[in-house]
Amino acid sequence: MGRVLVTRPLTEGGTDPLVEAGHEIVISPSALPKPELVSMAPEFDGIVSHLTDRVDAAVLGAGKGGMLRVVANAAVGYDNIDVGRANELGITVCNTPGVLDDTTADLAFLLILAATRQSTEAERDLREGRWKGWGFGDHLARDVHGMTLGLVGFGRIGRAVAQRAVGFDMDVIHTTRHDTGLHGYVPTLSELLERSDIVSLHVPLTESTRHLIGAAELAVMKPTAVLVNTARGPVIDEDALVDALEAGRLYAAGLDVFEGEPSVNPRLLSAPRITLLPHIGSATIGTRTRMARLACQGVADVLAGRTPPNAVTSS
Ligand code: DGY
Repeated sequence: MGRVLVTRPLTEGGTDPLVEAGHEIVISPSALPKPELVSMAPEFDGIVSHLTDRVDAAVLGAGKGGMLRVVANAAVGYDNIDVGRANELGITVCNTPGVLDDTTADLAFLLILAATRQSTEAERDLREGRWKGWGFGDHLARDVHGMTLGLVGFGRIGRAVAQRAVGFDMDVIHTTRHDTGLHGYVPTLSELLERSDIVSLHVPLTESTRHLIGAAELAVMKPTAVLVNTARGPVIDEDALVDALEAGRLYAAGLDVFEGEPSVNPRLLSAPRITLLPHIGSATIGTRTRMARLACQGVADVLAGRTPPNAVTSS
């Protein structure tokens, strides 16, 4: 049987596939500093990693010098892993597709609603004692229903957000690198940004999506528009976003992800009309347990000589 390192505790029952297969499991009680991950990697056949672990060439190279055969990220995004290098070394990389779509789409919708209706600022007024009673002209924000929702990326999570938007009577458009052939497809990002009242980002972080939304793209958006990001922080140029909010060139924003997580650009903290959440897109007990099990199943598959359905390759 193999030895598997889990770089942080998972939810209850998350390691079941490894337990059932009889593997020895070592669970780190807290995040492992990079040098420790490098020194531990060769001692394990498999690693269940988290999006906060940088599994780069140093970790993979050290692992390959030992017995490492598989790294399974307990997340759908895997920009923290050097998949190209892992593929070269013959180390399988897995992620957790399909089990967090609805939960993440729910949270994207929460941000769409919170940012567009400005509920964060309203709640802050209440909590901080500024609410003096119902006022006809107080806390006026914008409508969600009937608006045009623009989805950047139309994978599983983007489609799940689109489904929810139907219930809000929204027009939904989307853009992707390749024509989906589906109703609402828009060929360019710029056309989508121009037409949308609310834009929600659903692309993975790659070299081509880093700062996909910067000053030029924000300038194309309506000054009444709302921008929501549940994908990865670096997809947005945060300083350009704050500039647009401060200048009133963008109405509002809702972010669940940040460029320098866990630190948050201080300008975002003091920017107007912004809702900020600490990367909780998939954070429900059920979904995190499904993610943990899928990642662990990927490791169990590789160690049993099977190719897991959730193995990824570098594009
Ligand atoms: C992911 O899975 O990539 C999310 O960002 C965290 O659930």
